[in-house]
Order: sequence, then C-alpha cells, then structure tokens
Amino acid sequence: MTEPLPPHPPLERYYARDADRARAVNELFDAGAASYEWVCKVMSLGTGEKYRGQTLTDAGLVSGARILDIATGTGLVLRSARAIVGPTGLALGLDPSRGMLTECRKRCDAPLFQARGESLPFRDGSFDMISMGYGLRHVADLTQLFRECHRVLRPGGRLLILEMTQPQSAWGRWLNRFYLGVAVPRAATLSVGRADAKRMMEYFWHTIEQCVPPESILRAMRDSGFADAKRKVTGGILSEYLAAR
Ligand SMILES: C[S@@+](CC[C@H](N)C(=O)[O-])C[C@H]1O[C@@H](n2cnc3c(N)ncnc32)[C@H](O)[C@@H]1O
Repeated sequence: MTEPLPPHPPLERYYARDADRARAVNELFDAGAASYEWVCKVMSLGTGEKYRGQTLTDAGLVSGARILDIATGTGLVLRSARAIVGPTGLALGLDPSRGMLTECRKRCDAPLFQARGESLPFRDGSFDMISMGYGLRHVADLTQLFRECHRVLRPGGRLLILEMTQPQSAWGRWLNRFYLGVAVPRAATLSVGRADAKRMMEYFWHTIEQCVPPESILRAMRDSGFADAKRKVTGGILSEYLAAR
C-alpha cells in the first residue's frame, strides 16, 4: 500500500487540524466563488480561458469524447471541454464546493456533481479524458486522487492536470511571490466578494508556495498506474501533467 501524499503540509493559518482541512477549504471556495472568474481574468491578464481550452486540444480531446472535469469551480475548463466534445460527446463537472457549483450553473448547463476528487461517484472505465485545472493543491491525498482517476478512465484514456509551479530561478520565485502573493490578493479586494476573494487568493498562493515538487506529483501519478506521466512547462510557472491509463 502506498503512503498518502498530501500536496502540501497543513496550513495552520487556515485550519488548526488536518481533519478540518476539507471543511475549511470548502468554506474558502464557497465564500470566494462569486469573485473567482473576475480574479482569474485579472490574474491571467485575460488569457486563462483560452489557455485552458488549448491544453485540452493539445492533450487530444476531440468531438464526441466523454470528459470529466474535476475541481471544475465556476467551469473555466468545463466550458472549453463542452465546446470541443460538442453535442455528440459528454462533459461533466465535479467539485465539492456548493458555492462554486452555483456559479458554474449560471454559466454552463453541463451536468454537475458535488463530490471530491479522492472519491469519484462513477463506474470504472467511464471516461475518455479527465481534466483538473488548479485543483490538485486542494485534495487531501494525491495518490488517492490519481488512483480514482485511473479507475474511472477507460484503457488508453488520458489524465490532464493543470497546475501552477514555483519557477526555478530565485528572481522568478521573487516575482511569483510578489505577483501571486501580494498583487493578486490586493486586486481581489476590488472585486465583488472583497475580503472573501482576498482570503481565497492568499490561500491559493500559500498552497503554491508550499506545494510538493513536480517530481513528487509525477511519482504519485506513476505509483497510481500512470506509467508514462510527463510534465510540460509553459511560461516558467504553468505545469501541464499528462498521462494515459
Ligand atoms: C482554483 S479552483 C479551480 C477552478 C477551475 N478548475 C479553474 O481552472 O479555474 C479550485 C477548485 O478545487 C475545488 N476543490 C477543493 N477541494 C477539492 C477536492 N478534494 N476535490 C476536487 N475539487 C476540490 C474547489 O472547490 C475549487 O472549486
């Protein structure tokens, strides 16, 4: 049996005990949900949605495919997936945050499921592709997440994980800390949710800063059965992990 792999150490400023983690994370995303799209647009300088869609195409998503988008949030990945698979395909969204799912429903009429990535309510071999955009840092155990993805993908099906990673250089890390740790949370105070949005984006940054390195994520993917797991980096900080079942 493989050891559980949390994506980062417990973050005491957000939850006192690890047992409180899932509830605390849910509350943060519930409270910040109404501001999420606005903050993402500012954070990515308007390029975020197009980038997500391009990664799905590059990963091989085609018309008619069945895709599950884990950590769907307000549906930034899901909407692109739906456009690509078209009316002959199927795109489903899954997220534990009721607030996020409510915002998602306003923007997209895809079927949505309230659940966690570590326990997927689907039968074995149900999907051609699974995507997860910027949700990996919020699960309790990466190995359990990847095992569940492996189970519900069909043989040959693909897993695409989008994440933010710390740059290699000291200068890049300083810039990242300033942008994601200071500028983006400050910008979030201008949005509708204000204090809630700021706290959500501070948490977002702290999970990036404390995240396990890419090698540990790739190892957990391989330990869960994704033998060919690979990582591509765009712009020094955007990681795309891709693997086939
Ligand atoms: C930063 S948002 C990402 C939204 C969207 N995928 C995107 O690309 O912008 C992270 C999402 O992960 C969700 N989340 C938190 N814990 C999760 C878990 N255990 N399993 C799946 N999703 C989770 C949150 O509720 C939140 O909606």
